Amino acid sequence: MNRLDGKAVVVTGSAHGIGRAYAERLAADGAMVAMLDIDGRRNDEVAARIRAAGGSALPITTDVRDFAAFKSAVDRAAAELGRLTGIANNAGMLNVVPITRCAFEDIPDAEWDESFRLNTKSAWYGCKAAVPHLRANGGGSIVNVGSSTIFRGVPTRAHYVAAKAALIGFNRTIARELGKDGIRVNLVCPGSTLSEEDPSEATVRMREEVAKTRCIPRLERPADLVGTMSFLMSDDSAFITGQTFLVDGGSAMH
Ligand SMILES: NC(=O)c1ccc[n+]([C@@H]2O[C@H](COP(=O)([O-])OP(=O)(O)OC[C@H]3O[C@@H](n4cnc5c(N)ncnc54)[C@H](O)[C@@H]3O)[C@@H](O)[C@H]2O)c1
Repeated sequence: MNRLDGKAVVVTGSAHGIGRAYAERLAADGAMVAMLDIDGRRNDEVAARIRAAGGSALPITTDVRDFAAFKSAVDRAAAELGRLTGIANNAGMLNVVPITRCAFEDIPDAEWDESFRLNTKSAWYGCKAAVPHLRANGGGSIVNVGSSTIFRGVPTRAHYVAAKAALIGFNRTIARELGKDGIRVNLVCPGSTLSEEDPSEATVRMREEVAKTRCIPRLERPADLVGTMSFLMSDDSAFITGQTFLVDGGSAMH
């Protein structure tokens, strides 16, 4: 018996990085995983690898910033998997390239809006899309994804940190609204994670600097986050809701 046998979970941002690791681990733990990503080609490849390893993976191309598209992807996932027991709203970061690294007062207006659209509003969309299916299931687990930067503050990233921090209030509110339906809502906050598939030396150096601030002073990798996600999607966490899980090796504490 695997921990997630019988679970049917949507993971967004599943084609790369940490989301890919979530999809792989949830499938390895027995869940049927619907993988939603904007990068359809890569998402299909990752899903094929999960299936080749014996897991269940349904890749669906979508943009989590578009509610109609996101909802139709979640509806399709629930229909094809037969039910929905959870959603991990992981897609995020800042896919404005290049990000303008500047003082808060110089952040371009459009970049501020894009950060909230991708990091905050998409989580609201994901919850709205998933909740009817979770109610129909008799309950379920929502995991939104924040960042340890909320607790540390990171110069030049005010729009990203503010967008992620908003999820704490959002989560606590909807946890109170949804508890009576058996739906739990938690926030996972990764630390600076080497999620890049082919990181430059500068990226590794930047992430190593953060590693020095940790109780456990080493690089964080996607594998460091997947156990927490599996736990939150499982019945082992059935009485935990409205909480914020900081998974960063003890850099920030709250
Ligand atoms: N890597 C870190 O250091 C770190 C630290 C704290 C929090 N986080 C958070 O963890 C999550 C994953 O981070 P990551 O480093 O794996 O990111 P990543 O950029 O490596 O991967 C993001 C994934 O989301 C997909 N995606 C992007 N925009 C999308 C959209 N509009 N619709 C659908 N899919 C979309 C991408 O194709 C990609 O597969 C993000 O929410 C990020 O903010 C990351």
